Amino acid sequence: MELNKNDDTDLRALLHATLVDVDALMSRAVYDALFDAAAAQGPAQVLEIGTAHGAGTIALALGGASRGHDIRIATVDTLQALPDIPSSRARFGGPAENEAIVRGNFRRAGVGDRIDLHVGRSEDFARKLPDEFSIDMLVLDADGRIDRDLALFGPYLAPGATVIVDDIDGKVGAALRGGRLAIDLKHVISEKLTARLVEEGYLKFEKRTIDTSFFRAPDPQNWDYARLSEIAIASYRELIFLETAISPVMASSIASLLSSKSFLRPLYGGARAIYRRLSNRGNKQD
Ligand SMILES: C[S@@+](CC[C@H](N)C(=O)[O-])C[C@H]1O[C@@H](n2cnc3c(N)ncnc32)[C@H](O)[C@@H]1O
Repeated sequence: MELNKNDDTDLRALLHATLVDVDALMSRAVYDALFDAAAAQGPAQVLEIGTAHGAGTIALALGGASRGHDIRIATVDTLQALPDIPSSRARFGGPAENEAIVRGNFRRAGVGDRIDLHVGRSEDFARKLPDEFSIDMLVLDADGRIDRDLALFGPYLAPGATVIVDDIDGKVGAALRGGRLAIDLKHVISEKLTARLVEEGYLKFEKRTIDTSFFRAPDPQNWDYARLSEIAIASYRELIFLETAISPVMASSIASLLSSKSFLRPLYGGARAIYRRLSNRGNKQD
């Protein structure tokens, strides 16, 4: 199916119907906000880092189409977990299986002809970019290393470009993975970094929907990349001693951690060893 409608209500309804089938990871309000942002943008080259199964990409493509805009979206995802990048896509198979799912989703939503899917890391994609590539809207929803993506793609941002960053709510996430505690500081670092970037005028805050923030980059052609790097280091340093809100994920993880046999067994083993040692010492004294 290719799109032949350009009516806001029809295409928004198509987006909502699509979200049910595409393993959408954000709330419907955020996808609506992406749809609206693309509708307001005009003809645009969009770059999205973090495709997953394409829910956000489809929202952007349908939003652009709802006003008849000529919108092109380059979207980039590893579509697999890598040693330094956990990926929720791993549970759907390898990159080939995920790519087939994503392309199928684009085709069913009728937006396949507007989207260029690149399988790989954002760094790999940046290496292949021609000098004249110009980005009107940059959407960052990957592994939270937004300083990396701003350094990679800042030189390609058009003056006044829209920059959208997901996962900004300052909360710590945690989960048990293979008996180990996995801490997720993505939401914290995104909040710290973007707050400093706004303070220093790199980004101008426009609005926030749930935990997705919308910014404008007034003059990316004047960005000082050495300063960007200092800002990033200062933000990452703040992670060493962190006081922050505990997200529901964290609270439930603590509960599951405490009830987990793999967590309690070593504690129980340790306590028993101490008890034995103390009681043996007591026996010797007797
Ligand atoms: C939160 S999901 C994206 C959700 C998606 N925007 C949506 O609307 O459903 C994050 C994705 O980013 C990908 N990812 C993480 N780090 C990446 C990197 N450095 N380069 C490319 N993709 C990356 C992961 O594989 C994962 O699929």
